[in-house]
Amino acid sequence: MQETPFFVPRLPWRDIIAPNGSPLPEGAAAFGAALRDTGFAVITGAPFRGDLLETNYRLMREVFDRGAERLQEECSHPEIGFQRGYMPTRTEFGLRCGGDPDDKEVMAFGSYHNVGVAAVPGYLDAAQQYYAACQDVGYALMHALALYLDPVGSERGYLLGLFRDGDGRRIDDSHMRHIRYPGTAKRMACEHTDSNMLSLLPAATSRGLEVRDTRGRWIPVETEEGDLVVNAGDMLNFISGGKILSTLHRVENRFNDPTRFRHSMPFFYHPDHTQELKILDSCATEPAERRMFPHSSITGYALLYELLSSYKVIPPEVSLGQWQASMEHLKEYGF
Ligand SMILES: [Fe+2]
Repeated sequence: MQETPFFVPRLPWRDIIAPNGSPLPEGAAAFGAALRDTGFAVITGAPFRGDLLETNYRLMREVFDRGAERLQEECSHPEIGFQRGYMPTRTEFGLRCGGDPDDKEVMAFGSYHNVGVAAVPGYLDAAQQYYAACQDVGYALMHALALYLDPVGSERGYLLGLFRDGDGRRIDDSHMRHIRYPGTAKRMACEHTDSNMLSLLPAATSRGLEVRDTRGRWIPVETEEGDLVVNAGDMLNFISGGKILSTLHRVENRFNDPTRFRHSMPFFYHPDHTQELKILDSCATEPAERRMFPHSSITGYALLYELLSSYKVIPPEVSLGQWQASMEHLKEYGF
């Protein structure tokens, strides 16, 4: 696609978002161009409280140290595709890796009805505080992208309305994970694209994230403490008519040490899935070959169902209607 050397740009938060939370046009353009060219950006100085990240890493270690058996008894929910609570290792399958499962344990969180671990006080609270901080960072970055994708401004209300209602209340249906990868993992995360709009990934506890460039080479994404890796997901590729790339990435085991683990906590910023996703008019003339989906409009639920089915997270016998009903039930009533 592009002939220039592939690198993931480092962009300061303060150049993209003003202190009052509004996007800055030049920085928004640089951020949009990074996602257009590589699907990724490393943002420096994002406004996370440092202690929040530290607390989440510390408490997730305590949780995972309880062991798979206890966590499966205490807080595992396979009936909703592990969208909340504990998911044991070798559960998620990377179809691009010959069907081999990933070596990773997950604690999953969403916008409602989360589950904690009673034996680790403060864990749920810390996770939800981090989740809320990510919602705000994600919204500010979507606002920046709205400037980039829709220079005229007629569709920004639609785009931002996928995440907040008219009163400014958060309505996103996002997903956050605490992940622990064993140091002996054959594979930490098989190559994949993310299904959501934007992924936020604070620097993990060790290296390993790689992104595939347009010539098929795997490029390490190097981070320092305090960095935030941001990448575009499939839904953003969809609404931008292919202008923004949802790039393949993976996590490789770089240290191979049975005494260590790799920890990370990605946040996947999803819209309110009940709303219709459509290609923005401002992006209607983008070249079709960059588009991952044939639809011109589809609900968030239907698009996510397609994606999760393709990763076998949703089993083939579960229809879209059944899956959507179970997700709506979770939203309304909890477990
Ligand atoms: Fe990912």
